Amino acid sequence: MKSADILEALNWRYAVKTFDTNKKVSAEDLATILESARLAPSSIGIEPWKFLVVNNPELRAQLRAAGYDQTKITDASHLVVITARTDANNLPEELVARTAKTQGKTAEDLSTLHQMAAGAMSSKSPEALDLWLKSQSYIPLGMMLETAALLGVDACPMEGFDPTKVGEVLGLEAKHLKVVTMLAIGYRGDDAYASLPKTRRAYDEVVEIIN
Ligand SMILES: Cc1cc2nc3c(=O)[nH]c(=O)nc-3n(C[C@H](O)[C@H](O)[C@H](O)COP(=O)(O)O)c2cc1C
Repeated sequence: MKSADILEALNWRYAVKTFDTNKKVSAEDLATILESARLAPSSIGIEPWKFLVVNNPELRAQLRAAGYDQTKITDASHLVVITARTDANNLPEELVARTAKTQGKTAEDLSTLHQMAAGAMSSKSPEALDLWLKSQSYIPLGMMLETAALLGVDACPMEGFDPTKVGEVLGLEAKHLKVVTMLAIGYRGDDAYASLPKTRRAYDEVVEIIN
């Protein structure tokens, strides 16, 4: 893919407000978007997240009520709820277990990695740990937004919801998860917003080259 194609897709991408209720994202495109989230990097590789694809229409209606009645929550082809793990204590063990399995190493070989992950958790106050774990999940959100755009699939990231209500609707506490963002995925309908010129700071305002 050429730079011009990537930039064209990124300029075409808008946080779409109105989705076409009749158009569905293909299983292949959806899987690619979710796979790009799974492949996202995270600090020390802890991957403290889970992506919930909510297809159930009743749950989608309840999430819309928890999401200030944003129509995209029910109208988009798919809804992904991006959550952060709340059982931080399990994350270092899991990191070591999957690294050992995929790289053919022993837990002993990976003791430094375990110490690093456990240290990163224990050195933080509960509030700082919560913020750190939650902030990791904005990376897969960004990856999904970009992947969707490259596939010509529309999306809208959302933070406009009541997290307590979303947690209740999806039973997140029992799953040791906390909602961070939601992502509506589909195809734009008659969306006036997506035809406005894109508003962005100038390149030189946000990029500084330090030689
Ligand atoms: C983390 C995050 C949360 C957002 N929450 C909402 C939301 O709840 N509802 C909405 O319509 N747009 C939401 N947006 C979209 C932004 O308003 C939008 O990305 C920004 O204004 C830039 O416009 P563009 O993405 O269309 O280029 C959110 C974006 C991000 C990154």
